[in-house]
Amino acid sequence: MTHRRTRLPRGLAWISGLCLLGLTSAAAAERPAPDPAAGRAAYDQYCARCHGLTGSGDGVDAKRFYPRPRDLKLGVYKFRSTASGTPPTDEDLFQTLAQGLPGSNMPDWQFLSEATRWQLVHYLKSLSPVFEATPSQPLALPPDPGAGHDRARGQALYQELGCATCHGAQGRANGRSAAGLVDDWGMKIRPADLTQGWAYRGGATPKDILTRLMAGIDGAGMPSYAEAITPVEDAWHLAYYVASLQEPARWHMGLKPAQIAGALPSSVEDPRWRKAPMTTLRLRNVVDATGAWVEPPTVRAVTLQAMANREAVVWHLIWHDPSPESGSPPDGLAVVLQPAGTEGDNVTLHAWPYAGSPALDVCYWNAQDQTAGEFLAKDIETIRGRRAVQTSLLSQATYAEGRWHLLLERPLHAAQVSGGALLGGQVFNALAVMIWDAGEPGAQSVSAWIDLDLRQPSTGAAASH
Ligand code: HEC
Ligand code: HEC
Repeated sequence: MTHRRTRLPRGLAWISGLCLLGLTSAAAAERPAPDPAAGRAAYDQYCARCHGLTGSGDGVDAKRFYPRPRDLKLGVYKFRSTASGTPPTDEDLFQTLAQGLPGSNMPDWQFLSEATRWQLVHYLKSLSPVFEATPSQPLALPPDPGAGHDRARGQALYQELGCATCHGAQGRANGRSAAGLVDDWGMKIRPADLTQGWAYRGGATPKDILTRLMAGIDGAGMPSYAEAITPVEDAWHLAYYVASLQEPARWHMGLKPAQIAGALPSSVEDPRWRKAPMTTLRLRNVVDATGAWVEPPTVRAVTLQAMANREAVVWHLIWHDPSPESGSPPDGLAVVLQPAGTEGDNVTLHAWPYAGSPALDVCYWNAQDQTAGEFLAKDIETIRGRRAVQTSLLSQATYAEGRWHLLLERPLHAAQVSGGALLGGQVFNALAVMIWDAGEPGAQSVSAWIDLDLRQPSTGAAASH
């Protein structure tokens, strides 16, 4: 406790001192009077690496993120409870600092004391004249119908108001106006994938969504619908409908394929997939050979299922991509395995290849050839160019409404790739996924490693333990 107090900036220590003496109210202790020096010090320490020393969004780490860290000098804020075109309330800013912006690279700041967070709020306001010039206009929200909401009315509004033109009919960010949007800061911006509740930066509950609809997402080209929805109460039906589009992510560190006695599924339509366990993997961008971060990817997550019999494993991979393209590089996916005799999961995939890194065993499919092959690859170019294919693999892909489904089958022990991964037996194997999107040729994404548990059920005498 004591060490925490001594680390408070001088002005704050003074304020908390006053509280102890009972000279000021509890409310004032929570929300200290502005102390520009304290705000600036906290900003320099915690925020400048992304938002830049002057607040113009050009910190040393800025380029690697999507969306970019905000230029705070423009005074345009996305996540507000106020009318479009008016600044956020102090509480809105405080909440952004407490919760961060999930799904973006803006962290939460729970570990800072409330007093420090209030100083940061004051400091943010000092960066733009908007706060002095324009009073914020808090919005009154209509009462929540709760279980009485009307999904059909919500769905009709989603169509009538043109949400689908940006967000797509199923919410997968593949509407016809989704490509080519630019935000107020001059950066590329994409409509949110409404099925990914975990990536809603302003919160994923119907109330959060309602607030976004009423307030708009200023700067990002998503207008306010406060005037467009009549009666305004109906906005709740739309908010509930949008929330119903969310698909739960399953963040597991491993994947245990379902063991099948007979033939493996050869189609994504096989009803057995409905019951197979799922793992969701988050994708991130990589660094290129010069050590610079390449553009952040459009494809932010991939869902994985698997089934296996005694001969082979078949993976079912599902990812959202606004359009099925065969550009250069074409839409494509590689399941990455650790080669026999290596500890592949020690490889830092977002920086691979680097000095001393091993070749990786990749099972690569792309939308141009619509076929899959396996090989050991030393670098990304070898993968994309399919330069070293040693054996072809069974694959089947379908694309509809902003979503790829891919089946990829790989023999267990009988890999015809010299030095290829030996799957199964009694060891864990590691698996990762790389994805390419022709619509975003400068981007490249990779997941973390997960455990692929293909250990066979032991037979006979092994019952002893
Ligand atoms: C690791 C990078 C990073 C750091 C560190 C960081 N931010 Fe951010 N911040 C972001 C990104 C990225 C966005 C843009 C997210 C978006 O547009 O959805 C953002 C957006 C914001 C916004 C805009 C919210 C809105 O409603 O539009 C505020 C305010 C903000 N940051 C404040 C801060 C403060 C204060 C700190 C330091 C305590 C900080 N940030 C530190 C990355 C960062
Ligand atoms: C002109 C294109 C456009 C239209 C039309 C549009 N949006 Fe959006 N929407 C966006 C963009 C762009 C973003 C992402 C903004 C960002 O990344 O900062 C977004 C984000 C969102 C979010 C995510 C907010 C969060 O917390 O991250 C929701 C929810 C949403 N829109 C719902 C809707 C609904 C419902 C409609 C119809 C009433 C709609 N949008 C119409 C472009 C649009």
